[in-house]
Amino acid sequence: MSAATRATREIVHVTTTSRAYDVHVGEDLLRHTGKLIRKAVDADKAFVVTDTNVAPPYLERIKASLAAAGFSVSYAVVEAGEQHKTLQTYGSILERMATANLTRDSIVVALGGGVVGDMAGFAAATYMRGIRVVQVPTTLLSMVDSSVGGKTAIDLSRGKNLVGAFLQPSLVIADVACLSTLRPEVFVDGIGEVVKHGVLADEQLFEKLARTPLAQNARGSYLTHIIARNVAIKRDVVGADEQEHGVRQTLNLGHTIGHAIEAASKYTLGHGHCVAAGLCYVARAAERMGWAESGMAARIEACVAAQGLPTASNIPVEQLVEQATHDKKRHGAGVNLVVPERIGHVAMRHVTLDELTHIIELGEQPCE
Ligand SMILES: NC(=O)c1ccc[n+]([C@@H]2O[C@H](COP(=O)([O-])OP(=O)(O)OC[C@H]3O[C@@H](n4cnc5c(N)ncnc54)[C@H](O)[C@@H]3O)[C@@H](O)[C@H]2O)c1
Ligand SMILES: [Zn+2]
Repeated sequence: MSAATRATREIVHVTTTSRAYDVHVGEDLLRHTGKLIRKAVDADKAFVVTDTNVAPPYLERIKASLAAAGFSVSYAVVEAGEQHKTLQTYGSILERMATANLTRDSIVVALGGGVVGDMAGFAAATYMRGIRVVQVPTTLLSMVDSSVGGKTAIDLSRGKNLVGAFLQPSLVIADVACLSTLRPEVFVDGIGEVVKHGVLADEQLFEKLARTPLAQNARGSYLTHIIARNVAIKRDVVGADEQEHGVRQTLNLGHTIGHAIEAASKYTLGHGHCVAAGLCYVARAAERMGWAESGMAARIEACVAAQGLPTASNIPVEQLVEQATHDKKRHGAGVNLVVPERIGHVAMRHVTLDELTHIIELGEQPCE
């Protein structure tokens, strides 16, 4: 076991070809940030990047902790929200880093959700051709997904995450107490990826989720346990395929149709909500194609619904097909689809665009 349990902290050790690092998950970790970073890396200055929602409750606490551990601290607070994950905000972070005289001995601390993590990570990956980053995720999604694995990115007007780099963090500190200040719909959105991890690799996790909704105000030790398990699942997949040539693609379970729903909704539906619905579509279709164990789709639907997430969308099927296939039409090729076969087990299948269309149509009809 690489997840060592203490009272309310679990540590998941991640090894990739480029770097090995620890992910600390637990309660009240923010005030230990300075000490934890000091132990993990040798650095002089720490530069905190956060956003306008996260700064009020947490910035002073993390600054104090870093200063107490002997770091010289500077910071940048960016506007919150995906619409600010832009070249412009990224540029302003880099300018602030230069003004703070950061060098290759300095460290960036990304304090926030996936938007801050992606943007601060990309700034770290490119400033002086790359300095180190510590991820301090503050949303459920960023704790279970984006802070681990080393993908960083910003958006362009033509699409999301079009510019980016791989930079594994030097340390990840997930303080579950931060989840208490999230808007409830943002917390629930993160559960989409949690259910996905259960279907992908862990029937026991899936069963826990099916029995009990993951509540924002659940005991810290329970949230810690669930989040650490999710990190370990992502770790196992990423560790086997850091640059997404093969098995890392299985993390896209639910995403082919989920992305189509997200785009067709013009991004008004949360990513996790769309992934949950996309998961239900592909599960129903897989069962009807004879690719999956009978009864699997109904179990997934029940779990998704129990978590307060949608099992379908009201987007017309033609529009979903159009969204899911239009980029690919130009290349003529099909797509690699992640197909659930039974809870805890998936397979990759290459399908043609006609087959994908059929799969979306099959997935649209609810389970009886
Ligand atoms: N790098 C990866 O592997 C990866 C994986 C999945 C998603 N992502 C990216 O992650 C982003 C989505 O992340 P997200 O869902 O965390 O969104 P987010 O970072 O926008 O956070 C959601 C909202 O919650 C606020 N917030 C964050 N933490 C808070 C807290 N503790 N208390 C109160 N408010 C808080 C934020 O200011 C924001 O308004 C997308 O840009 C997506 O592309 C990246
Ligand atoms: Zn996702």
